[in-house]
Amino acid sequence: MGDLVSMNNIIILGAQWGDEGKGKVVDLLADRFDIVTRYQGGHNAGHTVYVGPQKFVLKLIPSGILRGKRAVIGNGVVIDPGALLDEIRALEKVGINVAEHLSISNRAHVIFPFHRLVEKASEAREGRVAIGTTSRGIGPCYEDKIARRGIRVADLLDRDNFRAQFDALAADKQTFADAFHIPDKIDYEKVRGEYEEFASRIRDMVCDTSRLLNQSMAAGKRVLFEGAQGTMLDVDHGTYPFVTSSSASAGGACTGAGVAPTRIHGVLGVSKAYVTRVGSGPFPTELADADGELIRKKGNEFGAVTGRPRRCGWFDVPLLRYTAAINGFDSIIITKLDVLDEFPAIKVCTGYKINGRVTDEFPATSCETEAIEAVYETLPGWHGSTRGATSYEALPDGAKRYLGYLSEQVGVEIGCISTGPERNETILIPGSRFAKLVG
Ligand code: GDP
Ligand code: IMO
Ligand code: MG
Repeated sequence: MGDLVSMNNIIILGAQWGDEGKGKVVDLLADRFDIVTRYQGGHNAGHTVYVGPQKFVLKLIPSGILRGKRAVIGNGVVIDPGALLDEIRALEKVGINVAEHLSISNRAHVIFPFHRLVEKASEAREGRVAIGTTSRGIGPCYEDKIARRGIRVADLLDRDNFRAQFDALAADKQTFADAFHIPDKIDYEKVRGEYEEFASRIRDMVCDTSRLLNQSMAAGKRVLFEGAQGTMLDVDHGTYPFVTSSSASAGGACTGAGVAPTRIHGVLGVSKAYVTRVGSGPFPTELADADGELIRKKGNEFGAVTGRPRRCGWFDVPLLRYTAAINGFDSIIITKLDVLDEFPAIKVCTGYKINGRVTDEFPATSCETEAIEAVYETLPGWHGSTRGATSYEALPDGAKRYLGYLSEQVGVEIGCISTGPERNETILIPGSRFAKLVG
């Protein structure tokens, strides 16, 4: 009994630069939990889940909603109510009862159209290297949060106070727009009216979600924390400034959901069998050749939110060691193994050289990270298909060797392997720490 209780609450998050396949893994495991909660990010996320032939791309709503679980949007998430209502409508259209299952934090911050405008202006500013954001207003909303002038869901529901807060924030943004000669006009009064309407539509789903989670956990319910983005996009630990504006790593789950570290019993990292990145910023193992093209084509590596082609490269061991340390991964889930099926030889980055110096430390600046010369080990391919494999034994020997090598180099077990986008295209390793954690 003690052991089971101690394994109740698990974080699943991205070990690279996002799009590792978190949606698929969360969907796969959701059945074993009572609640799935998001704790950071917003509709910059795009988590793809297949339920039979039907494809869903979840942006703000936790993937667990598809399995009839309680879905929670925690206080650390930033919410664009228009995008949220669109997502709710799309899910309800296919028969998913969102209103019954979704809880929205009263402390989450709200994204307004002027956040998108500020983002557009700052990305286009002369002399600035653009981050290549998803243009959803995520960064500017978090800016207002940290600057203590943001508007939260609870404020939105408090009609009188909302008006005063909105007008003050709108005046602030107009000053910014004037100072930076932003030509786009915003009809602030119209926006205020729209948001008052949004408030009435989400009101019944809003609550203190930290309280909800803590009470549920005390009653023995199991909670799955669904990370968005990935550790290398974390505002503290990622490739700053080419990051998102939230804490995508495991620590973010506690602040972003209002749950104590002592209530979390395991952390699982999701990593592709190679690496991808969308947007700008350093990428030590990026491939600008036919191999990169083949990965993009076979892996269908195009952004789930923006449709942008994802940059592709070989698996990066030092990077995984870095993210494993920051998050304390108990186990790693390797996704998209099947994408490497066709390669006669597969490279793995085992070390970094920066200006002639060999190091196993991930650099703090993007200049140093850009200067990394990746040191590679070449492994033979496996001349066979892993697509849809459901048992480790069924994998070609070369694929087993590849996985064994990654695990040994990173120093963390591989507890689960994904061999296709569908939930049954998965290998669970019996007896692994992963198997024990997910029950
Ligand atoms: P997330 O943001 O981490 O949830 O990942 P995305 O949904 O943005 O991107 C992952 C993509 O890979 C999606 O299109 C998935 O359907 C797909 N996918 C996930 N696992 C596998 C796998 O093992 N093999 C293949 N071929 N595709 C996968
Ligand atoms: P999921 O949850 C991949 C990237 C953007 C950009 C940077 C900052 O699907 O893994 P933002 O709009 O957040 O200010 O953009 O972060 N980015 C992602 N890349 N997957 C994501 O989410 C991402 N969310 C943001 O491309 O480089
Ligand atoms: Mg994604």
